[in-house]
Amino acid sequence: MIAEHPQLKFIIKGLPLLRETSGQWAQVCCAAIPQFLQDHASCERKAHAAAMMMVNRHPDLPLLQNRMLRLAEEELVHLRQVVALLHERNLPFLPDEVDEYVKGLLQSARHPKQMHLLDRLMTVAVVEARSAERFCLFADALPAGDLKEFYVRFAIEEAAHFPFFIDTAKLFFTPQEIESSLNQFLEVDANLINSLPIRPTVH
Ligand SMILES: [Fe+2]
Ligand SMILES: [Fe+2]
Repeated sequence: MIAEHPQLKFIIKGLPLLRETSGQWAQVCCAAIPQFLQDHASCERKAHAAAMMMVNRHPDLPLLQNRMLRLAEEELVHLRQVVALLHERNLPFLPDEVDEYVKGLLQSARHPKQMHLLDRLMTVAVVEARSAERFCLFADALPAGDLKEFYVRFAIEEAAHFPFFIDTAKLFFTPQEIESSLNQFLEVDANLINSLPIRPTVH
């Protein structure tokens, strides 16, 4: 599905995804905004935690640590913003649920238990690409108003994270290594998107 909003359309076209999200998905989310916001908050908490985990795991790579600390800071600001949307609506910020999409991507890695840095960077890059597509579609489908303006701004900001992970990988791996790992996870993403049920959640 392609967005109407010119800037959002432009972002979606620039993403490397192999399969588009079904047109139904944004309608399902717009009909269940509280659940979508709750899931979105949980995704931001996980994005922040994933960035901090890379900081912990790589004391030998200060360049990686600096970049991940910067990202963690950004994801924490996102989390605060989405939790504010929940609280404005008197909705609770719930404990995390298992994200079958992210679980599926992680399980497809070469060594799922002790993931190689390249695989870890590329799984997160693909999650960011898919999330950017979905924030664009959700923002596009929302009726005019404050929430739509928030999500248009938000989608534009999130779209910078896919290239951020690719640029991070370039510091440590060759273009060929990056391409081969990225393609592997893009294929897994396309299969998961095709097989998982359509729900009012980011993934
Ligand atoms: Fe975020
Ligand atoms: Fe992100």
